[in-house]
Amino acid sequence: MQNSSSDLKTVLITGGTSGLGLELVKLFLRRGYYVIATGRKSLEVPEFGDRFKLFRVDFYDLRQTADTIRTICDNYSVSYVINNAGILSPPDFTTTKDGIEYTFQVNYLAHLLINEIIIQRSGKSHPLRLAAITSVVHKISKPAITFCRKKEDYTPLKAYSDSKLFIAVMCNLLAKKYQDIDFRCFSIDPGVFGSSIYRMQHSWFRFLYHVAAPFMKRPSKIAMALADILTGDEFTNGVLYDTRKRIRHMKELDPSSINIFREECYKMLNQFLD
Ligand SMILES: NC(=O)c1ccc[n+]([C@@H]2O[C@H](COP(=O)([O-])OP(=O)(O)OC[C@H]3O[C@@H](n4cnc5c(N)ncnc54)[C@H](OP(=O)(O)O)[C@@H]3O)[C@@H](O)[C@H]2O)c1
Repeated sequence: MQNSSSDLKTVLITGGTSGLGLELVKLFLRRGYYVIATGRKSLEVPEFGDRFKLFRVDFYDLRQTADTIRTICDNYSVSYVINNAGILSPPDFTTTKDGIEYTFQVNYLAHLLINEIIIQRSGKSHPLRLAAITSVVHKISKPAITFCRKKEDYTPLKAYSDSKLFIAVMCNLLAKKYQDIDFRCFSIDPGVFGSSIYRMQHSWFRFLYHVAAPFMKRPSKIAMALADILTGDEFTNGVLYDTRKRIRHMKELDPSSINIFREECYKMLNQFLD
């Protein structure tokens, strides 16, 4: 292990190379944490010396994701996890290396895999706290919880809003599942802010986004609110917060469809888990 519980606390931030993730990286480094980020691009923060480490991984590939997270767990004692990486859904139905709809895998399924590996590897040895970024659009998802498998059923808004609903539901389910260890988690709706989230969109969308970006909220304030909840006095386990640290109501979902959905997800991840 390159750090231990007696050393600095370690935070793992997915998608730490831009937008909100990059702000979180900088904030936790300024606050004296050891920070591990994941991303596809490279990132250097030399002013913080050896307190920062980047692991390059594409969540488009679940095997690569699982192997990278295992390497992290073998070498670092992670205390805080932030599920931040995410994309706005591509205009057209796109699948990953694993043959799964792209948004579903990158925004949600890869994070479920990451969380399960970390909880199983580290959750029993020391306290673990987790935050996951959802979005206000999770509200427009249909109550029958299911994900897109076919081109004909695909719309980018539905794929994105569903993935963000799944993130909030995941936190709720993980909180219930891991009550016997010192594990707590929450999801957070960050509102709308300027970032690079537009990158997979059509050129006209990217143009409009660039025009609007200066008027949008800055991710630094959101990073601060998130970090305060995550590292502050105990937050409420499994709930959804907003950036004013208020607990938000989640719509009622059909429990039997949640069960079916959960089983399907774990079946997809089975081969990547221990
Ligand atoms: N911006 C908003 O208004 C808004 C609103 C609500 C929720 N959110 C959520 O906030 C989170 C952060 O987004 P952001 O707005 O800060 O966007 P961003 O600037 O585009 O950052 C997204 C991060 O995710 C990583 N990422 C994207 N695709 C990936 C993949 N296939 N594999 C691994 N990493 C990948 C990126 O890494 P690389 O750049 O290295 O590829 C980047 O670090 C997302 O979950 C997003 O859904 C954003």
